[in-house]
Amino acid sequence: MLVDGKHYRTIWADEEKRLFVIDQTVLPHEFRVVQLHTVADVCHAISAMVVRGAGLIGATAGYGMWLAAEQAPQNRVFGDWMKECAAALVATRPTASNLAWAVERQMRVLASLGPDASREAAQALLKAEAGRIADEDAQACRAIGEHGKALLTEISRKKGGKTVHVLTHCNAGWLAFVDYGSALSPIYAAFDSGVDVHVWVDETRPRNQGASLTAWELGRHGLDHHIIVDNAGGHLMQHGMVDLVITGADRVTRCGDAANKIGTYLKALAAADNGVPFYVALPSSTFDFSLCDGVRDIPIEERNGEEVRRIQGLGGNGRLESVLLCPESSPAGNWAFDVTPARLITGLITERGICSASEKGILGLYPEHASSCEEGKPA
Ligand code: MRU
Repeated sequence: MLVDGKHYRTIWADEEKRLFVIDQTVLPHEFRVVQLHTVADVCHAISAMVVRGAGLIGATAGYGMWLAAEQAPQNRVFGDWMKECAAALVATRPTASNLAWAVERQMRVLASLGPDASREAAQALLKAEAGRIADEDAQACRAIGEHGKALLTEISRKKGGKTVHVLTHCNAGWLAFVDYGSALSPIYAAFDSGVDVHVWVDETRPRNQGASLTAWELGRHGLDHHIIVDNAGGHLMQHGMVDLVITGADRVTRCGDAANKIGTYLKALAAADNGVPFYVALPSSTFDFSLCDGVRDIPIEERNGEEVRRIQGLGGNGRLESVLLCPESSPAGNWAFDVTPARLITGLITERGICSASEKGILGLYPEHASSCEEGKPA
């Protein structure tokens, strides 16, 4: 995506073996590129949400495995070191599928080299594979945009070209992936093809990814939008002010239950009550084919309560500040995600097309996972 006329991805490695990311903790107030030097830097960047979003944490973990190989201590058994680093990366955030998926993919690539391969060969292979993971993420998100565009185009046609109002929650734009995004990709594609689109942006407490990241992205793209408080969506839907809801997802089971940022479930309930179509957009790396019942089985990350008790913003002095919102002594609970049951989801927008949020619909698009889809067995 373009930032001040220059094309950026959210993560990239250069010829000098340096890895760069955009620091998402200071957006929208500052556009800062930072270098991640070590696998420990990568773990910290993921857990502190310097990088965040399902696709991007997957791509970052892929590169993290490469950095781990580059820095493997000579006095350590290479395979043991890589296993340890893989476990550390997977432990950084538990909910999004993409993270473990990317690490496991790198471990398989490593295993394909055989025990006698040199460290240099492993390093080169892991860097190339990390690049492929990133490229595939960008390509999948672009395809999601093309498939999802049809939904907005059809609504626009039915409304005689009047503005299509889309509500989204959190940030599932290009910042959450390597490029394009999932939920925002159909919006960008429709807008670029001339559809009149307006976006209701849930602010997305506690970390405000909607207000700080989605609003920033949409503004840069010239897209008309308004930030709304998280509880406004139901009211807007009751008054016919939302044509379509599109959210991203962090993990979707093979039966169509979707984990996404906390609060998504309430939007889906409101959408169902008001007959508003509710779509979830995701690349295949976000599916967890081993699970069916997402409410029961998807692990939900619980983060530090300080994220709820405090809020970060630009102070009058032009500096980023964090202020306390509540009594000093009040504790807070901070569940980062919730699960929307498949029955509340109108459809899934994937890189292979749109399907129903059901085992039949999903396996229809991804038949290669059908044979190994018994519960508890990764496909
Ligand atoms: O906690 P985050 O910011 O990493 O959460 C991920 C999200 O931004 C959302 O849940 C998003 O809709 C899915 S990620 C594409």
